[in-house]
Amino acid sequence: MGIVTAISGAAYIVASLLFILSLAGLSKHESSRSGLTYGIVGMGIALVATIAMVLDHVYNPTDEQKADLPDLTWVLIVLLVGAIVVGAVIGLWKARVVEMTGMPELIALLHSFVGLAAVLIGWNGAIGGFDASGVENPQDLGALTNIHEAEIAIGIFIGAVTLTGSIVANLKLSAKMKSAPLMLPGKNFINLGSLVVFVILTGFYVAMDTHANTTPAYILLAVITALALFLGWHLVASIGGGDMPVVISMLNSYSGWAAAASGFLLGNDLLIVTGALVGSSGAYLSYIMCKAMNRSFISVIAGGFGIEAGPADDTDYGEHREIQADAAAELLADAKSVIITPGYGMAVAQAQYPVADLTAKLRAKGVDVRFGIHPVAGRLPGHMNVLLAEAKVPYDIVMELDEINDDFDETDVVLVIGANDTVNPAAAEDPGSPIAGMPVLEVWNAKDVIVFKRSMAAGYAGVQNPLFFRDNTQMLFGDAKNRVEDIIAAL
Ligand code: TAP
Repeated sequence: MGIVTAISGAAYIVASLLFILSLAGLSKHESSRSGLTYGIVGMGIALVATIAMVLDHVYNPTDEQKADLPDLTWVLIVLLVGAIVVGAVIGLWKARVVEMTGMPELIALLHSFVGLAAVLIGWNGAIGGFDASGVENPQDLGALTNIHEAEIAIGIFIGAVTLTGSIVANLKLSAKMKSAPLMLPGKNFINLGSLVVFVILTGFYVAMDTHANTTPAYILLAVITALALFLGWHLVASIGGGDMPVVISMLNSYSGWAAAASGFLLGNDLLIVTGALVGSSGAYLSYIMCKAMNRSFISVIAGGFGIEAGPADDTDYGEHREIQADAAAELLADAKSVIITPGYGMAVAQAQYPVADLTAKLRAKGVDVRFGIHPVAGRLPGHMNVLLAEAKVPYDIVMELDEINDDFDETDVVLVIGANDTVNPAAAEDPGSPIAGMPVLEVWNAKDVIVFKRSMAAGYAGVQNPLFFRDNTQMLFGDAKNRVEDIIAAL
C-alpha cells in the first residue's frame, strides 16, 4: 500500500468520525451550527483524500493499472477537475438561490443524483468487470464472486428506486405533479410483486457466468434496472400529499443505502460508512415521522401505506366568519394566554420576523405566548423550528405537539399562521379522511382561533378543513406577513 493510500485511509476514518459528530450536533438546536461545521470539514477531508488517491493512481500506477490507463492520464485529470468545478459551481449557485420553501424539492433532486450515481457505478462494475469496480484481483474473491455480483444487482436496484422515486417526490413537492395519490388497481400487489421479481432476477444474474459479460447478463441487468426505475416511480406516485414527509425521509434513507451499495462495489470504506450513517439515520427519521403521522413503519417501507382512495368530500361545512387585523389585535390585547401554531404559509410569507416581533410585544404586556409545532408543519422536518430560530424566538417557548396539545382548552387565543393540514380536526374526527389518524394540534379547543391565510383553499393534502367553519374560528385573510404587521401596528 502506498503512502498516499495509507494517509487517505486515515483521513477517511477522521471524516467518518466527523460525520457522526455532525449527526449528533444536528439533532439539537443549540448544537446544530457546530454539527454543520463538522459535516463540512468532514466532507472537505473526504474530498481531498479521494482526489489524492485518484491522482496517486494516475501518477504512480501499479503495473496492472498502467495497463489499464495508457496515455489517458491527462484526459482523466481534465475530467476530474471539470467534474469538481462544474459540480461546485452548480452546488454553490443552487444553495445561494434556493428559497427555504424550495429546500425539500432541492433535497429530493439531490437524492436522485445519489441514486443515479449508484446505478452508473453498478453498471460500471458490470461492464468493466472487477478492475473497474475496485476489486483489483478477482482470483482473491473466490467464493465471494457471487456476493460481488449480487452487490451489482442490489446497488443498481436501490439506486434506480431512489432515482425515480426522488424525481417524483421533486415533481410533487414543486407542484409540477398532482400531490393526490396515484391509485393503480392492486398497487400493493404491484409493489410486492416487483420486489419478488427483483429477488428472482438477481438470483438468475448471480447464477449466470457474468465474468464473460455476456449479452444475456446485460439484458437481465437492464430488466432489473427498468423494474427498479418503475418501482421507484410507482412507490412515490401512489403516496398522497399528506404522507410526503415520510416519503422524503424514506428516500433520504434509500439514498444512503444506495451510496453504501456503491461503496461495497468500489471497495470504498468511507462510502460504506457514510451511506450506512445516512441510511440508518434516514430510516430512524422515517420511523419518527411515521410515529408523528400515526402510520405503520412497515407499510411505509412496503410503499403506499395500504391506503385506498376515500370518497370525494362534498360536505357542506356552512359559513365561515372573517375578522380584521384591528379586531384581532383587540382580542390579543385582552388575552392572558396565546398559542401560535405556524405552518407552511408562514414560510411562504416569510412571516417569522413579524411573528417574533408580535411575540415580544405581547410578552412585554404580560401575555403568556407559546408556539405549538407540529412535527410535519411546513415542508421539511424541523422547518418551523428553523424559521423561528432564525427570527430569534426563544427556544423555551417553542413546544412540540405532545407538550402543548392538552393546553389548548385553557388558552384564550390561538393564531394559526399559514397552517392547515396540521390543525385539521378531520384527522381526529373523520375516519374516511385521507389524513385520518394523523395527530393534529387541537387548536379548536381554545376560546378563540384566528386563521391567517389568503383564501379558503385546502392545505397540502388537498383536504378541506372544517376548523375554518367552527363557531370559535375567524379567518384573517391576506398574506400572513402583512396581516401580522397590521396587528403589530394596531397593538
Ligand atoms: P399546509 O397544509 O401545507 O397549508 C399551508 C397553508 O398556508 C395553505 O392552506 C395556504 O392557504 C396558506 N398560505 C400559503 N401561503 C400563504 C401566505 N403567503 N400567507 C398566508 N397563508 C399562506 O400547511 P401545514 O399545516 O404546515 O401542513 C404541512 C403539510 O405538508 C402536511 O400535509 C404535511 O404532511 C405536508 N408535508 C410536510 C413535510 C414536512 S417534512 N414537514 C414534507 C412534505 C409535505 P392559502 O393558499 O389560502 O393562503
